[in-house]
Amino acid sequence: MNDINNKLIDMAIEVSKNAYAPYSKFNVGAVLLMKDGSIITGVNVENGSFGLTNCAERTALYQAYTQGYRKSDIIKLAVVADTSAGVSPCGACRQVMSELLELDCPILLSNIKKSDIKETNIQELLPYMFNL
Ligand code: THU
Repeated sequence: MNDINNKLIDMAIEVSKNAYAPYSKFNVGAVLLMKDGSIITGVNVENGSFGLTNCAERTALYQAYTQGYRKSDIIKLAVVADTSAGVSPCGACRQVMSELLELDCPILLSNIKKSDIKETNIQELLPYMFNL
């Protein structure tokens, strides 16, 4: 595995410990590497009204946009959870990624053991995507 991917996955594992997931106990961490070298992180933040839960990927992307970044500023997104295979982003996150990431932006999906790592992009994850 290349060094940058390894570091991004390690950072995602580390930040996943901050997930607020009292209901599912399923921690997810997301890390965005920006072209200016910044790192923006996100975790899942659950709510007792379950539908209000925000996934780690969306937390990171919304934080990037909040700071004024846009899709052209993003080099890569890494997502990690304690799954047997690399975590697979939910449909809602795929829809958000399809608008907030470049279509060819690399998306790294790993588990915390780093035994399964995939590099993909939103075109692969969400073919025939909806957009306005
Ligand atoms: N979750 C994420 O953060 N990202 C995903 O791509 C899949 C699901 C979160 C939402 C919820 O807090 C927990 O994982 C279980 O669904």
